[in-house]
Amino acid sequence: MADSRVRIIAIMNQKGGVGKTTTTVNLGHALALADKRVALLDMDPQGQIATSLGFYDQQSGIDLVLLEGHGIDSVKLTARPNLDIVPAGQRLNEFEHIYEGGVERGHRLQKAINSSSLRTYDYVLIDCPPSSGLLGVNAMFAASELIIPVSGDYLSLQGLSRMMQVLKRSEELSGQKIKLWLVSTRMQLRRRLTTEVRNRVLKYFPGRVLHTPIRENVALAECPSFGKTIFDYRKKSAGAEDYLTLAEDLMIGRAAHG
Ligand SMILES: Nc1ncnc2c1ncn2[C@@H]1O[C@H](COP(=O)(O)OP(=O)(O)OP(=O)(O)O)[C@@H](O)[C@H]1O
Ligand SMILES: [Mg+2]
Repeated sequence: MADSRVRIIAIMNQKGGVGKTTTTVNLGHALALADKRVALLDMDPQGQIATSLGFYDQQSGIDLVLLEGHGIDSVKLTARPNLDIVPAGQRLNEFEHIYEGGVERGHRLQKAINSSSLRTYDYVLIDCPPSSGLLGVNAMFAASELIIPVSGDYLSLQGLSRMMQVLKRSEELSGQKIKLWLVSTRMQLRRRLTTEVRNRVLKYFPGRVLHTPIRENVALAECPSFGKTIFDYRKKSAGAEDYLTLAEDLMIGRAAHG
């Protein structure tokens, strides 16, 4: 863990398409709008954090930090007031294929954050890839908290039990407890299955599911193609409303009751 002040939160689920990136970007911007100093760190070689915020040039980023030992501050970009990003960079995928370095390889991100200005931020949100390789391990070791987005379909529950195994193993290896949060995403509140999945998650994780479910909202799906967050694109949408209250949930630790 870095400075005791900063909350470093990995947004993780090995299941693809559950809303990790959407949550990182929009929750991050919501926290920034609430006057928190926020950095979004992209650990997914797909590199969607930069494009979602309107950066289209090929940026270097956390790839150079992990592969070449550059400092995070040398690749950090200002995206919005209070909101900085550390892009993935073109070469991030190479890091999954690093075999030398032993256990040290798993702690590179944590060390880089500790020796950067990110220590002094309020929140660092780490967008993770839908896999469980070395990138995910680095995110997990760097994080003090974990947010697992769970979408409203049945297969999400399967992904979730796998995530619990990964979390347990990581805690054993690092000797550090990670605070767990879950967030319901892509909720179609009129579908019975969606409600069933949420109820199941609430039952398995009492006190750990953030209060606000994120509704399926077309504006949330549209905004990244304009390089905009939901707050740049449709401030009055359901998506904006949900991510603002989710940010409050996270700031005060407000969980849903089953
Ligand atoms: N609440 C929502 N309402 C509508 N569309 C959404 C919502 N959340 C996410 N989406 C859309 O669903 C798709 C997957 O979302 P996203 O990219 O955030 O998931 P992910 O978990 O990061 O995926 P990956 O595993 O590929 O990284 C995207 O097209 C996104 O725009
Ligand atoms: Mg993603």
